[in-house]
Amino acid sequence: MERFNNKTALITGGSSGIGLAAAQAFINEGARVIVTGRDEAGLEQARKALGDRAQAWRNETGSVAEARALASRLLAEGTSLDAVFINAGIGRFAPLADMSEALWDESFNTNVKGAYFLIQALLPVLNPGTSIVLNGSINAHIGMPNSSVYAASKAALISLAKTLSAELLPRGVRVNVVSPGPVVTPLYGKLGMDEAARQELATQIPLGRFGKPEEIASTVLHLSAPESAFIVGTEIIADGGMSQL
Ligand SMILES: NC(=O)c1ccc[n+]([C@@H]2O[C@H](COP(=O)([O-])OP(=O)(O)OC[C@H]3O[C@@H](n4cnc5c(N)ncnc54)[C@H](OP(=O)(O)O)[C@@H]3O)[C@@H](O)[C@H]2O)c1
Repeated sequence: MERFNNKTALITGGSSGIGLAAAQAFINEGARVIVTGRDEAGLEQARKALGDRAQAWRNETGSVAEARALASRLLAEGTSLDAVFINAGIGRFAPLADMSEALWDESFNTNVKGAYFLIQALLPVLNPGTSIVLNGSINAHIGMPNSSVYAASKAALISLAKTLSAELLPRGVRVNVVSPGPVVTPLYGKLGMDEAARQELATQIPLGRFGKPEEIASTVLHLSAPESAFIVGTEIIADGGMSQL
């Protein structure tokens, strides 16, 4: 089944982890994709892995100027979008007593401001019927110690999906959130979490294991395809039961 023939998908943070898996899944179903990231080597590696239906563009999520530059490049190349997966995000964990203003700003700039102003900038290039999916997290729903800033930034996305869906529905555009539980990606290395800590985290997942990036990608594709047209302004949680059981 090729649900995205002749469609174009933009995936922010598509050079690694969940974003890269989503890019591959869109391509497998006929789409052309544009992935973004910051690290040139990572982008080049992703472009090679994804093949000639993919472009990999350097773009900094969180900068309004960069969001506008991305939209301008799409306009200049005559590219309009059918699916947008706003996935680029960071996790910065610290207890309340140690959290710094800099970490707060970095988290909210990347995870919230980046999503909001990218959607604003992309308005001229969204085809009617475009589906926007935001990558949230089950941290928005659970009281995990040290996650306050990350969790609040992801909770903001759930609110944005509702209000922006209400505003954009007249244009045929809907916004939803996929909220993953722990998924095997390079993120945990970046957080400095060792194998013992990962195994401890896995014991908190009723399914007894981390998710695979492909398991989140399949939910993203469902939310991006016309088959989910009745799902508007809401969230699908994919977490092995961690926030539910
Ligand atoms: N893995 C999990 O367990 C999990 C669970 C819940 C939610 N999530 C969410 O899933 C999303 C992807 O995470 P992942 O686990 O796949 O992590 P990842 O493997 O570290 O990938 C993150 C991607 O985002 C890009 N990125 C980060 N900050 C960026 C910025 N400021 N500008 C542009 N690109 C940026 C990275 O590119 P560069 O390397 O070039 O910066 C990379 O392509 C995040 O929003 C995360 O919060 C992950």
